[in-house]
Amino acid sequence: MRKRIIAGNWKMNMTLLQAEALAGALLAGYTHNSAREAVVCPPAVVLAALRSRLAGSGIQLGAQNMHEAESGAYTGEVSAAMLVGTGCTHVILGHSERRALFGETDAIINKKIKAALLARLVPIFCVGEVLAERKAGRAEEVTAGQVRAGLQGIGTSDILACVIAYEPVWAIGTGETATPAQADDMHAAIRRVLNQIYGEVVADSVSILYGGSVNDKNIDELIARPNIDGALVGGASLKAESFLRIINYR
Ligand code: 13P
Repeated sequence: MRKRIIAGNWKMNMTLLQAEALAGALLAGYTHNSAREAVVCPPAVVLAALRSRLAGSGIQLGAQNMHEAESGAYTGEVSAAMLVGTGCTHVILGHSERRALFGETDAIINKKIKAALLARLVPIFCVGEVLAERKAGRAEEVTAGQVRAGLQGIGTSDILACVIAYEPVWAIGTGETATPAQADDMHAAIRRVLNQIYGEVVADSVSILYGGSVNDKNIDELIARPNIDGALVGGASLKAESFLRIINYR
């Protein structure tokens, strides 16, 4: 049985006060269910404050990015150990916004995944094609290439500690969701790549989340698909009501 995970990526939203209010509203409506993990990924500067708020609730904390080095002269950056020190259990890596806006390459993302694993953080490793690639019929090829490159040199026990998120770039923040069938096909393609690298048993054990305009209306249909093990939610994770409804998918 694969882990079901709903993760909220708050992106660059929420000041400290707003983040505390949202965490409070989530706590008020949240009932822990060990069969489905809930993770919130706020901006790094509010992680420490949310750690104490969320302690004991079962809602886990994740970061949106980290640097691959252990420490040193990397002004403005945050290390895996620092994230662990603020109570993070997860870290989103290779998000398409990091790739497109901050020049993150597959090679950098691979280093970050390894650094996260060393620190015992669960990487939420994001992959997905842009619209032009989908239109050119290259969605599978591009996404498979990102999976292979990102997981270069990562062994069997480490991949079991990873979560993969398929986020077609054309569906992020656009209101346009991949259809459940489209998403499921891509998740199956990702699982085939995992199968080729690690074998069937391991491939069947890795959770693959879907991200891209997930909301309280479409979550049930998405998660009903056999290869969709959860969601990485952007906009709809910024309101307690919608995020709680997504966590409580049927
Ligand atoms: P939206 O849910 O706002 O489309 O964002 C998806 C995303 O990028 C999550 O990481």
